Amino acid sequence: MGFDQYHEPPNELSDETRTFARMMLSLIEEAEAIDWYEQRISVEKDKQAKAIMQNAQQEEFKHFGMDLEFLLRKKPEWRAVMQSILFTKGDIVKLGKKGEEKIE
Ligand SMILES: [Fe+2]
Repeated sequence: MGFDQYHEPPNELSDETRTFARMMLSLIEEAEAIDWYEQRISVEKDKQAKAIMQNAQQEEFKHFGMDLEFLLRKKPEWRAVMQSILFTKGDIVKLGKKGEEKIE
């Protein structure tokens, strides 16, 4: 296992920041897994194999969601922005600007 998720000397980081970094990396890995399954599913011809990959991708949705929720609980400013964007309707860019204004 590599330790390159840190951009500052790990021994200078608090336990909380190291946990945050690990969860950020986990979030990235779950996003990659969702993407990789999406690509595999799109090209797979075998119906059974495709169904298994779809099932696996659904697991990754859950993992991504749990990682994201953990991180948002640690960063109230991030949560405030996400509350303006996620699970809404309308222009996403405008919603993003609205979220940004919340934390300024
Ligand atoms: Fe996963």
